[in-house]
Amino acid sequence: MSDKLKVAVLYDVWEEEQPAVEPEPEKPKRRSKKRRKKKKEKHDREEIFEALQKLGYEPFYQVLDGRMQSLSALPKCGADLVFNLIESYGGDDTKEMNVAAYMDLVGMPYTGSGPHGHFLAQDKAIAKKMFAFYGIQTPYFATSYRGKLDHAHDIKFPLIVKPVWEDGSIGIGADAVVGSVKELMERIEYIQDEFDSPALIEEYIEGREIYGGILGSYENTEALPLIELDLSKLPKGTPKIASLDVKFEKDTEAYKLTKSAPVEGMDDATIEKVQHVALAAYRAVKLRDYGRIDMRLTEKGEVYVIEANPNPWLASTQEFAMAAKKSGRTYTQLIGEIVDMALARYGMGARAEVAG
Ligand SMILES: Nc1ncnc2c1ncn2[C@@H]1O[C@H](COP(=O)(O)OP(=O)(O)OP(=O)(O)O)[C@@H](O)[C@H]1O
Ligand SMILES: [Mg+2]
Repeated sequence: MSDKLKVAVLYDVWEEEQPAVEPEPEKPKRRSKKRRKKKKEKHDREEIFEALQKLGYEPFYQVLDGRMQSLSALPKCGADLVFNLIESYGGDDTKEMNVAAYMDLVGMPYTGSGPHGHFLAQDKAIAKKMFAFYGIQTPYFATSYRGKLDHAHDIKFPLIVKPVWEDGSIGIGADAVVGSVKELMERIEYIQDEFDSPALIEEYIEGREIYGGILGSYENTEALPLIELDLSKLPKGTPKIASLDVKFEKDTEAYKLTKSAPVEGMDDATIEKVQHVALAAYRAVKLRDYGRIDMRLTEKGEVYVIEANPNPWLASTQEFAMAAKKSGRTYTQLIGEIVDMALARYGMGARAEVAG
């Protein structure tokens, strides 16, 4: 029998036509998300699998498909560690936290954020309240759900309207940026109808789109080199935002005209300031192991945190891996570090066996 550490690469699948396993009668069923639109050319799970093999581990795939059987199979899968790539459960993105909590309950060690981090970051309004408590600048906002106002700053146009708990720019297209009450009302209605979600209405911050990758946990965290998504080439009249098209729709002009790369032409003091904000935001919402903070940097040098992403997309072409590479790490080293951090948290020590 192999004495290699067995690492389950855990991911989720969901097809809209699948029957719901555990219906929640008192609540309207949340729609299956359009995140399936994400066309990941090479799944990060394959790259992670390969990296784990190179590191001398014994990886295998484990899937949660929204059915009870897949959930009960998880604790019995024989993994020493789970590399957690779960983004939703049964098509519901808000259930990331439940999967982490489930693994805590059944005593399975896993990589990345715990349920607290997922919970605090998932609901953008809650995350923004946390940022405010820690003095981290975030755009003024209000939330509205079925005509009820939950929380409101005195906000000024232009505004951006988005679902309060989605990610992957779901529900964020060119129409998300609104300049009038009419457009605002229409957009709120769209968000509620389409996603059965409260609408987060935020002041629109003009500025550079900067991503701050963070590696580590608690006091022991490192801010990686900053990555910028250049939105300047988007056609005139299109809002300069990382919309669904910009992120995933390869055939669109928006996708082709935008590109992420390590930041250039930023002075050291500004870089330090932005990284400092990213670290503070990461800690504020209790992220662990690795995370990505999305920010806007204005012409005046003000840094606004837009949101925090626990367990961000790890594909080698994506911003987090890009930042790790810029810091001098290979992709395999990055995956190895994430595993080591998780093992250390569970008192399991460093890796058992490392391939040459
Ligand atoms: N207040 C804002 N001001 C300016 N631009 C914004 C604002 N909020 C969002 N955006 C733009 O919309 C994009 C998507 O917003 P946000 O990060 O909140 O969505 P998301 O769906 O959680 O994205 P992901 O999970 O893919 O990072 C941002 O990257 C930014 O370009
Ligand atoms: Mg984002």
